[in-house]
Amino acid sequence: MNAASRTITPDPVGEAVAALAGPAGGAVVIDVGGGSGTRAVPLARLGCTVLVVDASIDALAILRRRAADAGVADRITAVQADAVALAGAVSPATADLVLCHHLLETVDDPAATLAGIASAMKPDGRASVLVAGRFAAVLAQAVAGRYADAAAILDSADGNFGPHDPVRRRFDVDGLTALLAEASLEIVSLDGVGVVSGLVPGGIRPTGLGTEQLSGLEHRLAGHRQLREIATDLHAVVRLRAG
Ligand SMILES: C[S@@+](CC[C@H](N)C(=O)[O-])C[C@H]1O[C@@H](n2cnc3c(N)ncnc32)[C@H](O)[C@@H]1O
Repeated sequence: MNAASRTITPDPVGEAVAALAGPAGGAVVIDVGGGSGTRAVPLARLGCTVLVVDASIDALAILRRRAADAGVADRITAVQADAVALAGAVSPATADLVLCHHLLETVDDPAATLAGIASAMKPDGRASVLVAGRFAAVLAQAVAGRYADAAAILDSADGNFGPHDPVRRRFDVDGLTALLAEASLEIVSLDGVGVVSGLVPGGIRPTGLGTEQLSGLEHRLAGHRQLREIATDLHAVVRLRAG
């Protein structure tokens, strides 16, 4: 398929995850902090077997209901556990694909969480790690006139503006890369998700004037070395480091 005929979707992460799971289905997926099944249900529909590990009993109850409604309850298992203790909750080296989406922002120990993810991956497995970007938050606060909060996000080790910030932790490319390396995870790709959409009034929508062009621009900017840094989210696809 050439670039001109490729369909641009407003959900690049979903598209990437589906591609990682493989067109034939049958992949074993662990969705850590998978919540109510936003990713697990579509993956089960593709034929994957999905284990969702989440701390919230309420989210898991919604997941079970959604899985039943979608007719994929037999392919989804829900386990209540803290992600930091993932290694004790799942068998080692069993996952073709591990999802860790918007979880590292909140866990007590991101390094331990990633170590657990690494131990759950098959030797040739992949993990999809999605985190909130630090610099997008700096820009958002600055544009809103909250200059002190913008500066605090820029300066603080965790990329937040203090105890009132609803997000405990945000990441930049260097910080995320270092954290992944600490868990012996090697980056296959690292994209910005929502490089300019967050700056556009109304954001990116499934339909509407300019949506195609905006999606196309986002697609081009995702891997841009400098501009990916200001994306709302950073999306890393990783594998186990050899040796
Ligand atoms: C922001 S939601 C993201 C849900 C999903 N991954 C997504 O991207 O749509 C964060 C999820 O992580 C779960 N969570 C937060 N802290 C956790 C922890 N320490 N261990 C396991 N799950 C946790 C929450 O219950 C919630 O379902």
